[in-house]
Amino acid sequence: MNKYFYLRLSVLTVMFAYLSGCTKTETITETVTETITETVTDTIIETTIDTLRLDPVLVAEGKEVFRHDTFGDEAFWSGVLHLDKAILGADNGGYGGGVSPATALAVGLKVDAEALPDEVVSLIQSGDVDLNDPATTVELLRLNSVVGIKGNFDGAGDLSSIGITCALCHSTVDDSFSAGIGKRLDGHPNRDLNVGVIVSLTDNAQFLADLLHVDVPTVNAVLNGWGPGKFNAGLMVDGIATRPDGSIAANLLPAAYGLQGVNLATYTGWGDMVYWNAFVANLEMHGQGNFTDARLNDAGMFPIAVENNFANVVNSPDLITGKLPALQAYQLSLDAPTPPEGSYDVAAAERGKVLFDGPAQCATCHIAPIFTDAGFNLHTAEEIGIDDFEASRSPTGMYRTTPLRGLFARMKGGFYHDGRFATLAEVIDHYDGHFDLQLSQGDKDDLQEYLKSI
Ligand code: HEC
Ligand code: HEC
Repeated sequence: MNKYFYLRLSVLTVMFAYLSGCTKTETITETVTETITETVTDTIIETTIDTLRLDPVLVAEGKEVFRHDTFGDEAFWSGVLHLDKAILGADNGGYGGGVSPATALAVGLKVDAEALPDEVVSLIQSGDVDLNDPATTVELLRLNSVVGIKGNFDGAGDLSSIGITCALCHSTVDDSFSAGIGKRLDGHPNRDLNVGVIVSLTDNAQFLADLLHVDVPTVNAVLNGWGPGKFNAGLMVDGIATRPDGSIAANLLPAAYGLQGVNLATYTGWGDMVYWNAFVANLEMHGQGNFTDARLNDAGMFPIAVENNFANVVNSPDLITGKLPALQAYQLSLDAPTPPEGSYDVAAAERGKVLFDGPAQCATCHIAPIFTDAGFNLHTAEEIGIDDFEASRSPTGMYRTTPLRGLFARMKGGFYHDGRFATLAEVIDHYDGHFDLQLSQGDKDDLQEYLKSI
């Protein structure tokens, strides 16, 4: 990056040297201005994104936390929901049919190929590993290779509990070994992961039914209704499982990359990234930490939180708070991925950028290089032309302008918080109608190519 910038600078210097010997003043001014503008734009993008000089030691610690730390949430996932026993299956001391690797991959769980020793890789390649046997899943857990699920083993070598980590929802793999098995891609949302179906494997859905004041069939209908790549983070505090039209409410797992310079986090701007990390680790993963947010002490809006004192969670020891700085550093280090060459039409994207920055009004909210508002990044539902159901579940009552970098890496599952627009073309059509932009089909195509390029 920097090398490129210096290269540009030296090109500029050479140009100045060349131009000083030139006589056509008009052309000189034009060329120089153009080159300077271009160089300055590059510089702004690069320095803004690289501004934070993150401590590599802290980043490395945060990576470990993000990938492998459960914050003691085994107490919930095994202690309450018994999901370790669901994985084992009745044949191995648990209950039910067990979770084979084939089943695990089918519900979107991913395997970190780099955690597999060579001999295991050869065995899988030669077909000598039974991917339909839950015991194989236990071995994959022993190798710490199931992304976002940590298995703990007792002295006898038996699986004693499991916990979940941030990577479960916010990492995927590059499929370089086979579908669902490859190198980790941290920060990329796992849009294959069916969180609801995984939770529904519990033999203690009664716990969730009691918590939410519904019956077990309702719990199961809701969990099975989220679908792949989605989760209802608000459910644990407001108990709202359905949208006003009766359909099941759930939001897309978002990207956790490209967040440098972004003010409020989450689709509805609950707080900044550090706030939300603490919220998730305590209230969603059910880790053992401390968490306070007096806004949750609102029985009308957050009845479940009030009943369970989620506004003031106290645990000793606190396994979360001390890790928040490292976690933040790691997340900030996750830059948005660069679109592969050839994945968009360069000339069309350049035309699309002109529209984005100008007549299509996109850059009034999605401001480069962060592609969300520079400053307070929330807008009302009316401003963006959608219903306020999800916004009204948040203390802010508003929607956060989504940072758009790395859009190409999260094309699965649709766009906007709940995936209501299946394609970028639909998103653009929505804005075209809402802002009465009167874009031609060609303009829309160009805008789409630009979105694929950022
Ligand atoms: C069960 C899946 C799941 C797990 C596990 C999970 N998250 Fe999330 N995360 C979500 C969902 C869903 C959202 C979107 C919430 C919303 O806005 O409604 C989200 C939002 C976020 C955001 C906001 C992104 C943005 O664009 O502003 C950050 C940051 C984040 N999570 C970090 C974490 C960290 C750190 C952990 C571990 C401590 C974690 N998450 C664990 C599902 C998960
Ligand atoms: C008034 C501010 C505003 C303007 C103007 C605006 N957006 Fe957005 N944009 C938002 C907000 C807020 C969201 C989040 C909506 C949600 O999640 O429900 C969003 C979401 C998106 C998304 C979905 C991202 C994802 O990952 O789900 C895309 C794509 C997008 N905008 C592109 C555009 C384009 C293209 C334009 C110009 C035609 C534009 N936006 C104009 C505020 C704006």
